[in-house]
Amino acid sequence: MRMRRKPWARPELEACPFYIADAKAMRGRWQEAFPKRRPVHLELGCGKGVFLSQEAAQHPEICYIGVDIKSEVLAVARRNIVKSFSEKGLEVSNVLLCACDIRLIGEAFSERDAVSRIYIQFPNPWPRLKHRKRRLTYPRQLIQYRAFLIDGGDILLRTDDRELFEDSVGYFAQSGFRCFREGEEGFTPGSPFTSEHERMFSQEGKEILRLRAVKEPAIRNL
Ligand SMILES: C[S@@+](CC[C@H](N)C(=O)[O-])C[C@H]1O[C@@H](n2cnc3c(N)ncnc32)[C@H](O)[C@@H]1O
Repeated sequence: MRMRRKPWARPELEACPFYIADAKAMRGRWQEAFPKRRPVHLELGCGKGVFLSQEAAQHPEICYIGVDIKSEVLAVARRNIVKSFSEKGLEVSNVLLCACDIRLIGEAFSERDAVSRIYIQFPNPWPRLKHRKRRLTYPRQLIQYRAFLIDGGDILLRTDDRELFEDSVGYFAQSGFRCFREGEEGFTPGSPFTSEHERMFSQEGKEILRLRAVKEPAIRNL
Protein backbone atom coordinates (compact mmCIF):
# COMPACT_ATOMS: atom_id res chain seq x y z
CA MET A 1 0.00 0.00 0.00
CA ARG A 2 1.85 3.11 -1.22
CA MET A 3 0.71 6.38 0.34
CA ARG A 4 1.33 10.03 -0.37
CA ARG A 5 3.53 11.68 2.28
CA LYS A 6 1.48 13.08 5.12
CA PRO A 7 3.25 15.87 7.02
CA TRP A 8 0.46 15.83 9.62
CA ALA A 9 0.87 12.13 10.41
CA ARG A 10 3.75 12.26 12.91
CA PRO A 11 2.53 15.26 14.96
CA GLU A 12 -1.00 13.82 15.17
CA LEU A 13 0.28 10.42 16.29
CA GLU A 14 2.68 11.94 18.83
CA ALA A 15 -0.21 13.87 20.36
CA CYS A 16 -2.57 10.88 20.29
CA PRO A 17 -3.30 9.44 23.77
CA PHE A 18 -4.06 6.01 22.31
CA TYR A 19 -0.92 5.68 20.16
CA ILE A 20 1.95 3.56 21.49
CA ALA A 21 5.26 4.47 19.86
CA ASP A 22 7.35 1.83 21.65
CA ALA A 23 5.49 -1.47 21.48
CA LYS A 24 8.34 -3.47 23.02
CA ALA A 25 8.19 -1.38 26.21
CA MET A 26 4.59 -2.59 26.66
CA ARG A 27 5.45 -6.30 26.64
CA GLY A 28 3.49 -8.02 29.43
CA ARG A 29 1.70 -4.74 30.33
CA TRP A 30 -0.91 -4.27 27.59
CA GLN A 31 -3.85 -5.15 29.85
CA GLU A 32 -2.77 -2.40 32.29
CA ALA A 33 -2.77 0.18 29.49
CA PHE A 34 -6.59 0.07 29.35
CA PRO A 35 -8.80 1.64 32.04
CA LYS A 36 -10.52 -1.70 32.76
CA ARG A 37 -9.42 -5.33 32.46
CA ARG A 38 -11.41 -6.79 29.58
CA PRO A 39 -10.80 -9.29 26.75
CA VAL A 40 -8.11 -8.03 24.37
CA HIS A 41 -8.46 -8.39 20.59
CA LEU A 42 -5.56 -7.64 18.28
CA GLU A 43 -5.73 -6.64 14.60
CA LEU A 44 -2.49 -7.42 12.79
CA GLY A 45 -1.86 -5.20 9.76
CA CYS A 46 -4.82 -2.94 10.59
CA GLY A 47 -3.96 -0.48 7.80
CA LYS A 48 -6.21 2.59 7.80
CA GLY A 49 -8.34 1.18 10.63
CA VAL A 50 -11.54 0.99 8.59
CA PHE A 51 -12.51 -2.26 10.34
CA LEU A 52 -11.11 -1.39 13.77
CA SER A 53 -12.81 2.01 13.95
CA GLN A 54 -16.28 0.45 13.53
CA GLU A 55 -15.67 -2.74 15.51
CA ALA A 56 -14.23 -0.98 18.59
CA ALA A 57 -16.93 1.71 18.70
CA GLN A 58 -19.55 -1.05 18.63
CA HIS A 59 -17.90 -3.11 21.43
CA PRO A 60 -16.87 -1.03 24.44
CA GLU A 61 -16.70 -4.27 26.46
CA ILE A 62 -13.61 -5.36 24.48
CA CYS A 63 -10.16 -3.77 24.29
CA TYR A 64 -8.60 -3.52 20.84
CA ILE A 65 -5.00 -3.11 19.71
CA GLY A 66 -4.31 -2.23 16.07
CA VAL A 67 -0.82 -3.04 14.83
CA ASP A 68 0.80 -1.89 11.60
CA ILE A 69 4.35 -1.35 10.44
CA LYS A 70 3.56 1.99 8.75
CA SER A 71 3.00 4.93 11.04
CA GLU A 72 1.51 6.93 8.13
CA VAL A 73 -1.37 4.46 7.79
CA LEU A 74 -1.77 4.43 11.58
CA ALA A 75 -2.25 8.19 11.44
CA VAL A 76 -5.16 7.63 9.02
CA ALA A 77 -6.47 4.89 11.35
CA ARG A 78 -6.35 7.38 14.23
CA ARG A 79 -8.53 9.82 12.29
CA ASN A 80 -11.00 7.07 11.33
CA ILE A 81 -11.24 5.89 14.96
CA VAL A 82 -11.80 9.40 16.32
CA LYS A 83 -14.50 9.99 13.66
CA SER A 84 -16.30 6.70 14.29
CA PHE A 85 -16.35 7.19 18.09
CA SER A 86 -17.42 10.84 17.90
CA GLU A 87 -20.32 9.90 15.58
CA LYS A 88 -21.56 7.70 18.44
CA GLY A 89 -20.86 10.39 21.04
CA LEU A 90 -18.15 8.20 22.64
CA GLU A 91 -14.64 8.85 23.96
CA VAL A 92 -11.95 6.49 22.62
CA SER A 93 -11.13 4.39 25.69
CA ASN A 94 -10.88 0.82 24.39
CA VAL A 95 -8.41 1.17 21.49
CA LEU A 96 -4.63 1.39 21.24
CA LEU A 97 -2.66 1.73 18.01
CA CYS A 98 0.96 0.69 17.79
CA ALA A 99 3.70 0.72 15.19
CA CYS A 100 5.37 -2.67 15.19
CA ASP A 101 6.86 -5.13 12.71
CA ILE A 102 4.66 -8.20 13.12
CA ARG A 103 7.61 -10.44 12.23
CA LEU A 104 9.00 -9.44 15.65
CA ILE A 105 5.67 -9.42 17.51
CA GLY A 106 7.02 -11.78 20.18
CA GLU A 107 9.21 -8.89 21.39
CA ALA A 108 6.11 -6.77 22.03
CA PHE A 109 3.61 -9.30 23.46
CA SER A 110 3.95 -12.06 26.05
CA GLU A 111 1.76 -14.69 27.72
CA ARG A 112 0.86 -12.09 30.38
CA ASP A 113 -0.94 -10.04 27.70
CA ALA A 114 -3.52 -12.84 27.34
CA VAL A 115 -4.95 -11.90 23.93
CA SER A 116 -8.32 -13.60 23.20
CA ARG A 117 -8.66 -12.97 19.47
CA ILE A 118 -6.43 -11.97 16.56
CA TYR A 119 -7.78 -10.57 13.28
CA ILE A 120 -5.64 -10.96 10.15
CA GLN A 121 -7.42 -9.40 7.18
CA PHE A 122 -6.15 -9.32 3.62
CA PRO A 123 -2.48 -9.76 4.46
CA ASN A 124 0.06 -9.61 1.65
CA PRO A 125 -0.11 -13.07 -0.02
CA TRP A 126 3.65 -13.26 -0.80
CA PRO A 127 3.02 -15.75 -3.67
CA ARG A 128 6.68 -16.41 -4.61
CA LEU A 129 8.13 -19.51 -2.96
CA LYS A 130 11.19 -17.69 -1.64
CA HIS A 131 9.00 -15.04 0.07
CA ARG A 132 6.44 -17.32 1.77
CA LYS A 133 8.21 -17.09 5.13
CA ARG A 134 7.06 -13.44 5.20
CA ARG A 135 3.37 -14.42 5.30
CA LEU A 136 1.63 -13.36 8.52
CA THR A 137 0.20 -16.90 8.77
CA TYR A 138 3.52 -18.71 8.23
CA PRO A 139 4.24 -21.24 11.03
CA ARG A 140 7.08 -19.18 12.53
CA GLN A 141 4.53 -16.36 12.96
CA LEU A 142 1.83 -18.65 14.35
CA ILE A 143 4.27 -19.97 16.98
CA GLN A 144 4.83 -16.39 18.13
CA TYR A 145 1.06 -15.67 18.27
CA ARG A 146 0.48 -18.89 20.28
CA ALA A 147 2.67 -17.52 23.06
CA PHE A 148 0.35 -14.61 23.86
CA LEU A 149 -3.03 -16.01 22.69
CA ILE A 150 -5.05 -17.68 25.45
CA ASP A 151 -5.94 -21.38 25.12
CA GLY A 152 -9.20 -21.52 23.16
CA GLY A 153 -8.50 -18.05 21.75
CA ASP A 154 -8.85 -17.70 18.00
CA ILE A 155 -7.39 -16.15 14.86
CA LEU A 156 -9.85 -14.93 12.23
CA LEU A 157 -8.38 -14.78 8.74
CA ARG A 158 -10.02 -13.11 5.76
CA THR A 159 -8.45 -13.04 2.31
CA ASP A 160 -9.31 -13.03 -1.38
CA ASP A 161 -6.23 -15.15 -2.17
CA ARG A 162 -7.09 -18.84 -2.55
CA GLU A 163 -3.48 -20.05 -2.48
CA LEU A 164 -2.63 -18.12 0.69
CA PHE A 165 -5.87 -19.39 2.24
CA GLU A 166 -5.25 -23.07 1.48
CA ASP A 167 -1.60 -22.87 2.53
CA SER A 168 -2.68 -21.14 5.76
CA VAL A 169 -5.04 -24.02 6.61
CA GLY A 170 -1.93 -26.25 6.56
CA TYR A 171 0.19 -23.76 8.54
CA PHE A 172 -2.47 -23.54 11.28
CA ALA A 173 -2.82 -27.33 11.52
CA GLN A 174 0.98 -27.73 11.85
CA SER A 175 1.14 -25.06 14.56
CA GLY A 176 -1.45 -26.37 17.04
CA PHE A 177 -4.63 -24.70 15.77
CA ARG A 178 -7.97 -26.27 14.83
CA CYS A 179 -9.40 -24.75 11.64
CA PHE A 180 -12.99 -24.03 10.70
CA ARG A 181 -13.82 -22.75 7.24
CA GLU A 182 -16.87 -20.58 6.66
CA GLY A 183 -19.98 -22.81 6.70
CA GLU A 184 -18.42 -25.43 8.99
CA GLU A 185 -19.70 -25.92 12.52
CA GLY A 186 -17.32 -24.06 14.82
CA PHE A 187 -16.84 -21.17 12.38
CA THR A 188 -17.78 -17.64 13.40
CA PRO A 189 -17.26 -14.54 11.23
CA GLY A 190 -16.41 -12.66 14.44
CA SER A 191 -17.66 -9.33 13.19
CA PRO A 192 -20.07 -8.01 10.54
CA PHE A 193 -17.72 -5.08 9.83
CA THR A 194 -15.45 -4.99 6.80
CA SER A 195 -11.95 -3.68 6.24
CA GLU A 196 -10.87 -1.32 3.46
CA HIS A 197 -9.60 -4.24 1.37
CA GLU A 198 -12.68 -6.39 1.96
CA ARG A 199 -14.89 -3.56 0.67
CA MET A 200 -12.66 -3.05 -2.34
CA PHE A 201 -12.46 -6.75 -3.28
CA SER A 202 -16.19 -7.32 -2.64
CA GLN A 203 -17.02 -4.42 -4.97
CA GLU A 204 -14.82 -6.06 -7.61
CA GLY A 205 -16.91 -9.23 -7.18
CA LYS A 206 -14.04 -11.27 -5.74
CA GLU A 207 -14.77 -14.22 -3.47
CA ILE A 208 -13.86 -13.55 0.16
CA LEU A 209 -12.46 -16.56 2.02
CA ARG A 210 -12.86 -16.74 5.79
CA LEU A 211 -11.27 -19.04 8.36
CA ARG A 212 -11.38 -19.37 12.12
CA ALA A 213 -8.37 -21.06 13.74
CA VAL A 214 -8.71 -21.94 17.42
CA LYS A 215 -5.61 -22.36 19.59
CA GLU A 216 -5.47 -25.82 21.07
CA PRO A 217 -3.67 -26.09 24.40
CA ALA A 218 -0.14 -27.50 24.18
CA ILE A 219 0.04 -31.19 25.02
CA ARG A 220 2.05 -31.46 28.20
CA ASN A 221 4.19 -34.54 28.96
CA LEU A 222 2.83 -36.38 31.97
C1 LIG B 1 -3.05 -5.23 2.19
S1 LIG B 1 -3.03 -4.21 3.61
C2 LIG B 1 -4.51 -4.73 4.47
C3 LIG B 1 -4.98 -3.68 5.45
C4 LIG B 1 -6.28 -4.04 6.19
N1 LIG B 1 -6.09 -5.21 7.03
C5 LIG B 1 -7.41 -4.26 5.23
O1 LIG B 1 -7.91 -5.40 5.14
O2 LIG B 1 -7.82 -3.30 4.57
C6 LIG B 1 -1.77 -4.98 4.60
C7 LIG B 1 -1.36 -4.15 5.81
O3 LIG B 1 -0.44 -4.91 6.58
C8 LIG B 1 0.64 -4.09 6.96
N2 LIG B 1 1.82 -4.96 7.15
C9 LIG B 1 2.38 -5.76 6.22
N3 LIG B 1 3.45 -6.40 6.74
C10 LIG B 1 3.54 -6.01 8.03
C11 LIG B 1 4.44 -6.30 9.08
N4 LIG B 1 5.46 -7.15 8.91
N5 LIG B 1 4.26 -5.71 10.27
C12 LIG B 1 3.22 -4.85 10.45
N6 LIG B 1 2.34 -4.52 9.49
C13 LIG B 1 2.50 -5.10 8.29
C14 LIG B 1 0.80 -3.09 5.84
O4 LIG B 1 1.46 -1.90 6.25
C15 LIG B 1 -0.66 -2.85 5.43
O5 LIG B 1 -1.23 -1.77 6.15
